[in-house]
Amino acid sequence: MLEFGPKREVYIDPMTTPTFIQISQEQKLAHSLSPAQTIAAELLKEQAEIAPKYFYDNLGSRLFEAITTLDEYYPTRTESLIFERYGAEIFGAIPKGRPLIELGAGSCRKAERLLNWMQPSRFVGIEIASEFLQEGLTRLSERFPTLPLFGLGYDFSKVLNIPNDTPELGQGPRDIFYPGSSIGNFEPPQALKLLKAIQVLSAEGSLIIGVDTVKETDTLEAAYDDALGVTAAFNLNVLNHINRILGSDFSVEDWRHTALFNEEDSRIEMHLVARRRVRVSWPGGERSFRESESILTEYSYKWSPDDFIQLLEDAGFAHVDVWTDVSRWFAVYRAQVLKPE
Ligand code: AVJ
Repeated sequence: MLEFGPKREVYIDPMTTPTFIQISQEQKLAHSLSPAQTIAAELLKEQAEIAPKYFYDNLGSRLFEAITTLDEYYPTRTESLIFERYGAEIFGAIPKGRPLIELGAGSCRKAERLLNWMQPSRFVGIEIASEFLQEGLTRLSERFPTLPLFGLGYDFSKVLNIPNDTPELGQGPRDIFYPGSSIGNFEPPQALKLLKAIQVLSAEGSLIIGVDTVKETDTLEAAYDDALGVTAAFNLNVLNHINRILGSDFSVEDWRHTALFNEEDSRIEMHLVARRRVRVSWPGGERSFRESESILTEYSYKWSPDDFIQLLEDAGFAHVDVWTDVSRWFAVYRAQVLKPE
């Protein structure tokens, strides 16, 4: 007689796998430039520039994560404190069962905590560093195995215009989460434009956005020039990323990191400063830098709550509420998107 082993239960893994798609900005204009051509043109400006989105290659994304754990870098932990203390209040007023979209979702660590406050119908992470986002979504799927998860690899630094009927976004109204003061990278007119585009994406949902505040120059500058040199490494690493995209021959040793608060414009300005005369070349171009000449790599605007509330209202948001920590080092805003007239 044949003996069968003990009867086995078959478990089917109920986990939903994250869906990931890449959306590229349509190159609508016949004469639009390739990324390499744009980088070259910006390097050739009188004040050379590298756009901050190029910080976020794989190493750069990891260095940014390290920055968020530094003593000097107060924004991330202060924002977390605000969410811990007021999360129930901030998110409690938002209806459950709608799509939740995070802009610049990164490694999805913030989403992990957010999903304990909100019960959305799905989570959609939008992020330029797509490999990093995919890793984050996979981790998220282990914590929230039944929540539909979507990742959109997308660069919204110039314009946010994902077609509203993109199936991955789900049906509106949608709630938009934009934490970490990433809006600080945008100059005020562009920030206004982005906030208007967020309204279109949201389709009468709400926006929860974290924004750094104006404070003492010393505190601000230390946050962007830490003692361990992690921010310096983060800034310098952009040159390696540019070398890979442009085929240029930047040497990290030729440059040093600086970060200064420009009070008049209310922004941190990060530069890479040439330690000596430097010549950089790439296929089809070159540039010489004098000693102390710089490349602008980032603006990080700081907003007083009054000014940011005004900006939200100028963009057409209503019912703006704001929460801050006791020292008012960081602010979280919740705003409602109204029906367009
Ligand atoms: C990701 C744009 C919010 O401006 O504080 C951190 C980037 N740069 N340290 C910021 C950054 C240097 C960060 N944001």
